[in-house]
Amino acid sequence: MNISPISRRGLMLASAASATALSVTGCAQTATLPASGTTRSTDGAVPSMRTSLTVNGQPHTLDADTRTTLLDALRENLQLTGTKKGCDHGQCGACTVIVDGRRINACLSLVAMHDGASVTTIEGLGQPGALHPMQAAFVKHDGYQCGYCTPGQICSAVAVLDEIKAGVPSHVSPDLTVRPLLSAEELRERMSGNICRCGAYSNIVEAVIEVAGARA
Ligand code: FES
Ligand code: FES
Repeated sequence: MNISPISRRGLMLASAASATALSVTGCAQTATLPASGTTRSTDGAVPSMRTSLTVNGQPHTLDADTRTTLLDALRENLQLTGTKKGCDHGQCGACTVIVDGRRINACLSLVAMHDGASVTTIEGLGQPGALHPMQAAFVKHDGYQCGYCTPGQICSAVAVLDEIKAGVPSHVSPDLTVRPLLSAEELRERMSGNICRCGAYSNIVEAVIEVAGARA
């Protein structure tokens, strides 16, 4: 195909102009259709939103950029750095927290989605000198090495036992009528969203089984 340099340049300029126009149009729509309850930040560029939530039993109100994840809000706004950022893509589970009784990846959730919610982080489960039974079991069974995944593992494990207690099945539950739905295979499946680069998996399962047995 024979395209002259001028016509090709003209084509590229036209494409660039059209892409720019689309981009500006998109911004304008965003600007004219702010989400309910949003306000402009002081520089006028980024909408922010007020969110009230309870974290570890304490009420908090945040004015945050609407793009702020729950993970960043916890770590950067509330200085609760026990919750870890591993992948920031929902792949490692290091950021697992418990929201209204369910475990979620805080990196995949915007804080603005949690107005009125109750959030529990590793700091809310226990403290040095008053550990949660799951924290104590992780210590007892060496359920960690570097410890980076550990807050997410422990929050996930606490929620897993509640899921089992509620009879929520997993993909490997052989019989949905059996109670409790508890086995090493069950726990490995249920904890499969929490990656441990140090490979402390067998010790983690031992810790969770001990707490599950104590509860039973
Ligand atoms: Fe959220 Fe990895 S940091 S899943
Ligand atoms: Fe190091 Fe799990 S203890 S990543």
